[in-house]
Amino acid sequence: MKVVPSILNMQEISRQLRRSGARIGLVPTMGALHDGHLSLVRSAKSQCSHVVTSIFVNPLQFGPNEDFTQYTRTIEADSELLEHEHVEVLFAPSAAEMCRRGAETFVKVPDIGARLDGASRPDHFRGVTTIVSKLFHIVQPDLSFFGQKDAAQVAVLRRMVQDLNFQVQICVCPTVREPDGLAMSSRNRYLTAQERNSALALSRALQAAEVRSSCTSDAVELRQVLLEELRRSQGVRIDYAAVVDPNTLEETITVSQGALLAVAAWVGSTRLIDNLLLAPRRIPS
Ligand code: PAJ
Repeated sequence: MKVVPSILNMQEISRQLRRSGARIGLVPTMGALHDGHLSLVRSAKSQCSHVVTSIFVNPLQFGPNEDFTQYTRTIEADSELLEHEHVEVLFAPSAAEMCRRGAETFVKVPDIGARLDGASRPDHFRGVTTIVSKLFHIVQPDLSFFGQKDAAQVAVLRRMVQDLNFQVQICVCPTVREPDGLAMSSRNRYLTAQERNSALALSRALQAAEVRSSCTSDAVELRQVLLEELRRSQGVRIDYAAVVDPNTLEETITVSQGALLAVAAWVGSTRLIDNLLLAPRRIPS
C-alpha cells in the first residue's frame, strides 16, 4: 500500500491510474477505523481495480464546541488494517495542505444540508461537501463509497454530485452494527460502560418503530414510538427523532412510499446517530 501525504502526488497517481484504464474506488474516512469503514473498503475492492482510502480529520465539519481536538487519531493502526484489506493507496493529507489559510471557497447544499444533523450542527454539511468535493477533484474516482449510517450525509452528497455534475457514482453500504445492535461509530470509543448501555436506546427505538410500521403508515405515530423509546432510557438526551423522505430529508406524512427513520441523541457528552430505511409497502393507512 502506498501512503500518500501530498495532494500533488495523489493527483499524479490518479492521472497515471486513469491513463492505464484503472477503475478507481474512493473510500473517504476520518480514520479511527472500525468494521463499518472496512465494509466500505471491501465493497470498493469488489467493484474497483484500485482502492484509495483517505484519512483526514476534517476541521471544516466540526463546530467550535465539538470534538475536533479529541477525535481519535490512530493512523498507524488504521494503515495496518488497510494494508490487510489490500488497499492500493492511503491518501492522508495534512490539514495545512487540505485547508489552506486564506481559502474562501465552499460547497454548500443549503436546504438539505440544514435538515436533521444540519439543523443542530450549523455548517457541518458545508464542511463535508467542501472536503468531499476536494477529494473527488484530487482522486478522480469512478465510484465513491459511503455508509448508510450517515443517511443525511448521503442525501447531501447525492444532491451535490447531481447538481455539480461530478462524474462519480455514489455507492451506499449498509450500517454495520455490534452484535447487540449498536451502530459502529468512531465515537463509541468515548462511551463509558454505562453510557454504552444507554446508547442501545437508539437502535431499540428504530426497531420498535419498524415493528409498528407493519400496522400503520402514519409518520406521526412512528415518530411518537421513536420518542417514547428514547425517553425510556436514562442518560439519553434527544437531538431529533424524525420520519423523513430519504432524498430530501423533509418530514413525511405517510411511510407508504418508504421513509427514513432517523434519530440523534447525546449520551453523556457524546452525540450519536442511527437510522433505518423503511421500504415502500402496502399496509392499512
Ligand atoms: P467517518 O465518520 O470516518 O466515516 C467514513 C465513512 O464510513 C462514512 O461514509 C460513514 O457513513 C461510514 N461509516 C461509519 N460508520 C459506519 C457503520 N457502522 N456502518 C457502515 N458505514 C459506516 O463520514 C465521515 O467520516 C466524514 O464526514 C467524511 C465523509 C470522511 C468527510 O470528511
